[in-house]
Amino acid sequence: MTYQNFSLKQLQEIDGAHHLHPFTDHKDLRAAGTRIITRADGPFIYDSEDNELLDGMAGLWCVNVGYGRHELAEAAYAQMKELPYYNSFFRCSTPTPVLLSRKLAEIAPAGVKQVFYGSSGSESNDTALRLVRHYWALEGKPEKTIIVSRRNAYHGSTVAGASLGGMAAMHSQLGAPVPGIVHAMAPYAFELSLPGESEHDFGIRAARSVEDAILEAGPQNVAAFIGEPVMGAGGVKIPPASYWPEIQRICRKYDVLLMLDEVITGYGRTGAWFAAQSMGIEPDTITTAKALTSGYQPLSALLV
Ligand SMILES: Cc1ncc(COP(=O)(O)O)c(C=O)c1O
Repeated sequence: MTYQNFSLKQLQEIDGAHHLHPFTDHKDLRAAGTRIITRADGPFIYDSEDNELLDGMAGLWCVNVGYGRHELAEAAYAQMKELPYYNSFFRCSTPTPVLLSRKLAEIAPAGVKQVFYGSSGSESNDTALRLVRHYWALEGKPEKTIIVSRRNAYHGSTVAGASLGGMAAMHSQLGAPVPGIVHAMAPYAFELSLPGESEHDFGIRAARSVEDAILEAGPQNVAAFIGEPVMGAGGVKIPPASYWPEIQRICRKYDVLLMLDEVITGYGRTGAWFAAQSMGIEPDTITTAKALTSGYQPLSALLV
């Protein structure tokens, strides 16, 4: 039976009874009734009542090439028939990730040459956390474990992702962030600059709050700083131009890795392939997902 056999009201009732939505007040959802999106084309989505809506958010900031791309559906169909799955354990690989990894290394900022895949941005941030800690252990500095993040940052909804993020409401669901993660100030001048403080000076002060967090933890204990080039879920906050160069300087000074979360900004959103390139940042890891497949498949890639 296809969904066309159901009325909107029936679908809403079933949705309300059985389907939990993320980040949603379900009482409110059930009272208002779910909007059922049934199809999409280019930049437009259509609901069950055939209302055409301009999808200004590109899905959830992911459908960068728009809807209805037949070539993507055909490539997926051909691949699923030929080889739907094989793992990359046991000295194996399949041609597609081999070639995609080379492509990503070509477009990534200089020095970023290797890729570890996952199924979501959250999962790749979990991997990034483990990877940087393991890196320092291999370098003979196992005490370098602390990650500095920022208040109101969003790095996903897994336990580590929510802990890396700086959303107080998500932390309270966890009981507390996982140990070894501290949060500094967000570079959001509109809310946090002092009377008379220039954007430039605010950017430097916001970056120095990261330095203060590193000094407080002891640089010998700090593995990495993580940040979104432009904070997305926390409110689309573009930092002052002075911010990222100062962050880069601070990370180098204290031998702290720079983890960039480009889950939203990656793959063209800021004009270059990555915001690292648009903003002149030299990261050690880049978390990417979303526009990597434009939402046609769940896939994330941690570039290192
Ligand atoms: C910056 C950032 N990092 C990580 C994530 C988590 O990605 P996912 O929803 O694919 O787990 C998101 C999702 O919106 C994000 O905006």
